[in-house]
Amino acid sequence: MPRSSFGARVVAWQRAHGRHDLPWQCTRDPYRVWVAEVMLQQTQVATVRGYYDRFLARFPDVQTLAAAPLEDVLRAWAGLGYYARARNLHACAQAVVERYGGVFPRSAAALQQLPGIGRSTAAAIAAFCFNERAAILDGNVRRVLSRHFGIAGDLTTAAVQRRLWQLAESLLPRAADMPAYTQGLMDLGATVCVRAAPRCEVCPLASTCYARRQGRAAQLPAPRARRAVALRRTHWLLAVCRGAILLVRQPLRGLWGGLLAPPQFPSAAAARVAARALGGGSALQRLPAVRHAFTHFTLLATPHLILLVQQPPRAATLHEQWLPLHEVEEAALPAPVKTLLRTVATRYSGSTPNATRKRETML
Ligand code: ADE
Repeated sequence: MPRSSFGARVVAWQRAHGRHDLPWQCTRDPYRVWVAEVMLQQTQVATVRGYYDRFLARFPDVQTLAAAPLEDVLRAWAGLGYYARARNLHACAQAVVERYGGVFPRSAAALQQLPGIGRSTAAAIAAFCFNERAAILDGNVRRVLSRHFGIAGDLTTAAVQRRLWQLAESLLPRAADMPAYTQGLMDLGATVCVRAAPRCEVCPLASTCYARRQGRAAQLPAPRARRAVALRRTHWLLAVCRGAILLVRQPLRGLWGGLLAPPQFPSAAAARVAARALGGGSALQRLPAVRHAFTHFTLLATPHLILLVQQPPRAATLHEQWLPLHEVEEAALPAPVKTLLRTVATRYSGSTPNATRKRETML
């Protein structure tokens, strides 16, 4: 197959059958494209759609984002997960302002030097905004290439990665077609060459596809060797007092860096001791455990609710704060914490401790 025909078919297919209505497609402003690409790094299009316009309304340009407190950025990001992205986004905006006077550099090579912008993201921004002939290689594109060219090795190994990058570079069309080509590869991977049950009958690459010819689409790419996912257990203390809940700001470098989460303990007994120290006696109510999958482990958190009748005996410190339960929706909370606190809020928001006591049995 001449390499040129691969690109031409992807481009023609994208123009006729690809996606054209995504909110970040109607711009070539690198700021807007960059925000979309970072959001899309580990999050589905459907979820990003719900965040993208709101994020841009709050931070309409790179200067506004750079000048905003990190806390505000994290709050706008809360629920999208992988919070290092939000911290890098903030750092990147500051770097663009400081190093480039607020104007994004125009080459993939320079973009890749900025925080949170890897090789594929840099290429996507440069291709979409500046027509640069730079190759993207995200999970979807790896699948398209490994099937079409019959690359059977483990895609996570350095040798196979190198081969895929070389291949991706060799397939690029002329500069004018780079936006449609880049979007076309993404669209093919997301809507046609999907992991399970690919729709080969509508694929523009089917006539030259190795996996199609060999009937091996189900085996390619080789599934990643599965590591056993570790389970981390923790106990959360949900201390509620006069319609507010005690939360701790997580260390910036940690998993939920900068977000608010309930105080954590290694055991139910330790949570009980802490509840008593807050003046809560020992009447803890255990709520159903919350399970949340991270990339490398699964968190299993058991929440323990304590209703404090007295004003909290200690003032909130820099890292602790009492969040009014009616502010749960706007607060910078990780998604599983927000879901849990919504349940608590529907029962205890704005209630006096006496009133809440009567309702305790409802939980
Ligand atoms: N995934 C990564 N970038 C994307 C984009 N620009 N459109 C759709 N899905 C994507």
